[in-house]
Amino acid sequence: MNILTICGSIRTDSTTASALAVASESASGAGANVRTLQLGTLDLPFCDGRNDERSYGGDTTQFIDAVEWADGLLIGSPNYHGSLTGVLKNALDLLGPDAIRDKLVGLIATARGEAGAMNTLNHTRHICRWMNGWVIPAEVSIPRAQDAFAPDGTVRDAELAVQLRALGTELVRYAQLIRG
Ligand SMILES: Cc1cc2nc3c(=O)[nH]c(=O)nc-3n(C[C@H](O)[C@H](O)[C@H](O)COP(=O)(O)O)c2cc1C
Repeated sequence: MNILTICGSIRTDSTTASALAVASESASGAGANVRTLQLGTLDLPFCDGRNDERSYGGDTTQFIDAVEWADGLLIGSPNYHGSLTGVLKNALDLLGPDAIRDKLVGLIATARGEAGAMNTLNHTRHICRWMNGWVIPAEVSIPRAQDAFAPDGTVRDAELAVQLRALGTELVRYAQLIRG
């Protein structure tokens, strides 16, 4: 079972990346091979709507291959003005229409405010379903993300840690079900 982690924040010390790390460690503990993609280190051009996504150049082929390798995706994004980040949306737009068909998707979203990041989850879920991915019911919205993690990336709140770990194990479980 191969799980690919994609973080929509390219910020150093990203809280979304910290959250994804907890979930992916849990997926790894459940038997998955986990690979993490740093969108900030990839040379990904803007999507221009062409049909042959592999012709974009840069690291686009590497990105498409990594998604193809995965049975499941762990995707995280900060709330940017009530939605997902442009970096993540562009990366998803660079994938072909069938790139995540039949793949399982687990979602995490972070926000600075008390209201959390439900709209970010809603929008990302909608996009992934539109792309024929199977978004699992477990998903985690993290309000006040700036306070949620210690400097070493560990989760301060025990309940949040449980939710993030459950997301990782549930993703592996559903991926096994759909592959079986
Ligand atoms: C352009 C931009 C827009 C943002 N919009 C919101 C927002 O609407 N609501 C909110 O609670 N936080 C908002 N934030 C804050 C981020 O969602 C929050 O700091 C998040 O935890 C950052 O994730 P990161 O640590 O992974 O980079 C915004 C941040 C940026 C840079």
